[in-house]
Amino acid sequence: MHRRPTPEETEARERLRRFRRGETEELVFKHPTGHPATPTGFCFCDRGALRMVLFCVKAALLDLVLKLPWNGPKLRLLRRLGARIGENVYISARAWIDPMFPDLLTIEDNVFIGMEARILMHEFRIDEFRAGKVILRRGCMIGAFALIGCGTEIGEGATVGAAACVKRAIPAGATAIGNPVRLLRTGAPEAELENPQPPDGGGNDGSSRP
Ligand SMILES: CC(C)(COP(=O)(O)OP(=O)(O)OC[C@H]1O[C@@H](n2cnc3c(N)ncnc32)[C@H](O)[C@@H]1OP(=O)(O)O)[C@@H](O)C(=O)NCCC(=O)NCCS
Repeated sequence: MHRRPTPEETEARERLRRFRRGETEELVFKHPTGHPATPTGFCFCDRGALRMVLFCVKAALLDLVLKLPWNGPKLRLLRRLGARIGENVYISARAWIDPMFPDLLTIEDNVFIGMEARILMHEFRIDEFRAGKVILRRGCMIGAFALIGCGTEIGEGATVGAAACVKRAIPAGATAIGNPVRLLRTGAPEAELENPQPPDGGGNDGSSRP
């Protein structure tokens, strides 16, 4: 339902625009709202029919391309949607990447994302809206079916185990598993990570990486 934004919503949306442009240091943007069943001012469905249709087209296209086995079109589309994607990145088939704010996603070089991993850059709560950056540092691996929540940084060379649910920063070189997530291995000293192994080599924590 389209309605005029309140002055407070207009101010909050401006803060969100600045956050999305990278003008603030925070990892997460937060704003108190009413229940998501009523217009919060942050859903595309609150912003008029044209914006909603454009969003639905973008979301459907991203969803389709991410389901396919070919990597190149995924990287090209994500870059076009504003994500920062490094070199030698591989996104497996059926991964899901939040279409709402792809511009808040950074994937550095040599990252591997497993099948059906899910990456969220926004969160509606019962009384709050959040948008958060997700940063996948160089050489990290996201296991199949893992969930990476908004406002999360996965450190250089870290491994996120299959089906882990990650809502906090994972240190460089660590291996994180489970829900709630815990560290199976704490990681390698910084010095070892400055010259990461090639993607087909062994990880810094001894576990295999792509
Ligand atoms: C996390 C991971 C890297 C650990 O591998 P590993 O170092 O060989 O660890 P092990 O298999 O020796 O397991 C060590 C312990 O962690 C547990 N464990 C391993 N992976 C786990 C996971 N994903 N979730 C929960 N527990 C896990 C094991 O059960 C074992 O527990 P125990 O010591 O109580 O017996 C690996 O299990 C994993 O999840 N890899 C993801 C692979 C993937 O999804 N690739 C993408 C495919 S498209």
